[in-house]
Order: sequence, then C-alpha cells, then structure tokens
Amino acid sequence: MTNKITIAVDGYSSCGKSTLSKALAKKLGYIFIDSGAMYRGVALYCIENKLINNNAPLEQQIIASLPDISLTFQKNDELPDQNDLFLNGINVEKKIRTPEIANQVSKIASIKEVRLKLVEEQRKMGERGGIVMDGRDIGSVVFPNAELKLFVTAQAEIRAKRRFKELQQKGIDASFEEVLQNLNERDLLDSSREESPLVQLKDAIVLDTSNLTPEEQLEVAFNLVLNILQAKRT
Ligand code: DC
Repeated sequence: MTNKITIAVDGYSSCGKSTLSKALAKKLGYIFIDSGAMYRGVALYCIENKLINNNAPLEQQIIASLPDISLTFQKNDELPDQNDLFLNGINVEKKIRTPEIANQVSKIASIKEVRLKLVEEQRKMGERGGIVMDGRDIGSVVFPNAELKLFVTAQAEIRAKRRFKELQQKGIDASFEEVLQNLNERDLLDSSREESPLVQLKDAIVLDTSNLTPEEQLEVAFNLVLNILQAKRT
C-alpha cells in the first residue's frame, strides 16, 4: 500500500492555486497537474479550428471533435519543475496563457461532454495517488475521496493585481481593468454553470491567500499534509 495521498486544490481564478499546488507537489515528490491547462487546451483547439463563432462555441461540432483532441503533459526542458501542455503533440504552454484563451475558456469548460472527457483523463492521472491537482471540481467530482481538499481564495482586487503583474512579466498586453473584469466574469461563469460548478465543499479547508506569501501558503498546506500522513500511520 502506498503512503501517498491525493490532494485536491480548488478555488477562484488567479488566487495562487497552481503556484501553491506545484510547490507542494515538489516538496512531497508528488505529481502536479494543472487541470485548468487542459480546459485551456480544448479552448485553443476550438479557436484554431474555428469552432467558436462570434464568441459562441459551436457545441455540437466541438463535441464531435473531442476524439481528435489529445492532451498530454511533458516536462519543460529548461524549467524542470514545470509541466508543459501538449495539444496533439505540440507544446502549447505559451499559447494557452493568452487573454484570448482566458476570455473563451469558461464557456468551453461549461460543455458537459468536454468535462466528461477531461475528468476521465484526470482520474487516470491520479489512479495511484501521490498527486496534487488544482482546478474547480477536483474535490467535488474528480477526486471526491481525496484525503486533503483545499479551497483557495483571495480578494478579487488582489488576484487581479497578481494576474496583471504576471501578464506584464510575460510581455502580454492587457489593462488592469480588463484583467479584473475577466476574472470577475470567469468566477461568475465557473461558479454558476450547471455542470460541476465551483463550490466550497464542507470537507474542504479554506485557505485565504490575500495576505500570505507563497512560502507561507506552502507552509500551511504542507503542515496539513503532514498531519494527515501522521494520522494515517497511527
Ligand atoms: O485555472 P485556470 O484559470 O487555468 O482555468 C481555466 C478555466 O477552466 C476556468 O475558466 C475554469 C475552468 N476549469 C474548470 O472548469 N474546471 C477545472 N477543473 C479547471 C478549470
């Protein structure tokens, strides 16, 4: 039997979920999966194949195309801590982080069949435990039996500031107001959609990162894991 646990990290956009999950996985020697990257990958496929018309996803065509979409993660050669997303064998890590994708992805993520496909793939990745996966439905749908469920949150303005800084560093053009508006719109869509909306589960531990440094967040999460591992041993 493995001692490794499954860790589900859910929360709003740009609250530091992926940064925390990646650092936690590294510290524990676990796999890290950014499930949002997979939804972004599908959104990119839809844009590149003209499956979004005037901001409206062509649902039936998207559903019919799902067997043609292959998503995998591979280690980045220059940044070994980072897993890059590959869409049909091509590294699309940079392409999926643009504001264009951010604007379209929530609509794509609300299509039931898209979710069914990605959830199945995500479950396979976590079959053997030892995984930290972040997203919106990880504790509720993908891994309902996860030993640790975190719900990460932060004030909207603080999240927008972080996201804005990140985009500036990457040389991606967007105003602060646009970033804040996109975050608010995505949060609303993600938490009000019919299929697997973002919810704060009763068995999740809430982590408000508004006033915590990444190091402090990691310390809190790591201590929670240590407690669980210790309880498992006794
Ligand atoms: O975490 P992110 O911002 O990269 O996620 C991109 C989009 O995908 C976001 O609108 C929410 C959606 N998503 C989802 O519906 N379920 C997940 N497990 C992960 C992301």
